[in-house]
Amino acid sequence: MLSKGSSFITLSIYNKHDILNLLDTISTFDDQNLKRFIPNKKKLIANLFYEPSTRTSSSFYAAATYLGHEVLSINNVQYSSVAKGETLEDTIRTLASFVHCIVLRHPEEGAAKRAAQVSTVPVINAGDGVGEHPTQTLLDLYTIYKHYGRLDGLIVTLMGDHKYGRTIHSLVQALDLFDTKINLIGPIDLKLPKKLYKERYLESVELTANIAMLTDVLYMTRVQRERGAQGHYALTRLDAENLPDNSIVMHPLPRVDELGDWFDTDPRAKYFEQMSNGLAVRKFLLDRILG
Ligand code: NCD
Repeated sequence: MLSKGSSFITLSIYNKHDILNLLDTISTFDDQNLKRFIPNKKKLIANLFYEPSTRTSSSFYAAATYLGHEVLSINNVQYSSVAKGETLEDTIRTLASFVHCIVLRHPEEGAAKRAAQVSTVPVINAGDGVGEHPTQTLLDLYTIYKHYGRLDGLIVTLMGDHKYGRTIHSLVQALDLFDTKINLIGPIDLKLPKKLYKERYLESVELTANIAMLTDVLYMTRVQRERGAQGHYALTRLDAENLPDNSIVMHPLPRVDELGDWFDTDPRAKYFEQMSNGLAVRKFLLDRILG
């Protein structure tokens, strides 16, 4: 299980019991009473971001600050030694020599694992290219768990770029541990990679009325254009009519044109709450990992 000093690279090493255990513990961080989290020893956390980020980097920053820690933010890597051709490994070795934990976002799949292999301090994967985004998945699962009180027995419809979307890559693996039904909706060219695909998934290019009417969670993602993806889809007013009243609509954000702001006032829109759940998740992770 996740313990003091461990890196957090993927959710795929955890079983169903571990995940539920993590989600229950996250809920103890989900309150406004920050006082009891102030530790007696301040730690330094490096936020090393080679790719753009708003929510992930700022929520790690906020979580660390609320826990009483300090953050060294490195997000303009063009002004660091990376611009001189330094390898990821050497940058990690350098930071690890004076910080207690490294939160890493990098454009290459597998970068977080590589970093953890050379790091003397824990590494948290904040997104490795088209690989995984496990902290996002924890907050996604937590949002669903908070709403439904369970993860078993749910029908989850993922609508988006399944080829390049790392949030999807992490989420399907975690949902697979539970008794969930997964529908994959999206352009034919943006299908889930074979290594993650399971026969039991239902694939469709369109969110048909039949699929929408049986959906508990609609999880939307944008087309990852910066990774070469192309395609178009969007939640329509008809889709919204077909979705059950007690369903929820999620999105890791940022959204582009697949989810119009006309839906924001709908009681089923959960994406802003989902985003704010990121704080509890990241407070929990830092607390657990830094001890
Ligand atoms: C996601 C990411 O970085 O993968 N954003 C996030 O962390 N909330 C989703 C995306 O960029 O589409």
